[in-house]
Amino acid sequence: MNSEKPNYGYTAIKYFIGISIVGLIGLIVVMFTFFIEDPLKSIIFMLIFPIAITGLYIGALYIPLYHSILRTNPIKDVWKHILKDFRGDEQVLDIGCGTGRVSINIAKHLVSGNVVGIDIYSGVSGSSPDTAYYNAEIEGVRDKVEFKYGNVLDIPFPDNAFDLVTAGSVLHEIHDDKEKLIVLNEIHRVLKPGGKFVSIEILRDVRLYLALLYFAFVWKTKNFWETLLSKSNFKKWQSETHTQFLNLGIFIGQK
Ligand SMILES: C[S@@+](CC[C@H](N)C(=O)[O-])C[C@H]1O[C@@H](n2cnc3c(N)ncnc32)[C@H](O)[C@@H]1O
Repeated sequence: MNSEKPNYGYTAIKYFIGISIVGLIGLIVVMFTFFIEDPLKSIIFMLIFPIAITGLYIGALYIPLYHSILRTNPIKDVWKHILKDFRGDEQVLDIGCGTGRVSINIAKHLVSGNVVGIDIYSGVSGSSPDTAYYNAEIEGVRDKVEFKYGNVLDIPFPDNAFDLVTAGSVLHEIHDDKEKLIVLNEIHRVLKPGGKFVSIEILRDVRLYLALLYFAFVWKTKNFWETLLSKSNFKKWQSETHTQFLNLGIFIGQK
């Protein structure tokens, strides 16, 4: 049995730990100012105190994100639910696949089908096709997955190619709302008639504001996604809310 552990993007934790350590050191320096005299005391306090508070705050932010998204892998049951009616020979596209977390989960439920993951491989997560392949190897699904560069604004596949398209916490990363609509219609284009699209997004709501304060603006409300879907080429869609540490919206469209 393979004892290695997959890496599903925990590399981002390095940044949070680094920033928390800076915050902690800042706090120690601030405490040290109690033993020295002005004006040095006031200068150090004014310079270091904001750094200490910011560092500790950003470090603390990681806790809700980690528990909602990374550790519990909350979407596992959703995929099981979606895939229960599948034959096992489906062609699946996972957009914004990153380290392959969603792709690999789905591949585990397929018999002869395949999952293609595309991503622009940007950002702090440190993801790459190599990491995704490494994870697939460890999880025993290397023969069922393919990972490659691809932008969701212009999906590099022909029309009617996939039975299922998945997006695990990806759509909010397309910052322009018009572009979000382009992405939804691109997904619709590459789906076979009757094919399904599943998107999972953290929902911006009171719970998220309490956890992340102004960082909550990065995410969107459930109402926002429902309005967007209603403007897209998806004529059939539904949404659900799953409560983990945070609220997650599951949006399912059918072509
Ligand atoms: C929060 S990560 C989620 C990764 C993965 N789906 C998961 O659940 O672990 C969002 C991913 O979307 C990718 N992404 C952002 N904009 C993209 C675009 N225009 N085309 C393809 N991928 C994109 C990022 O590179 C990143 O890997």
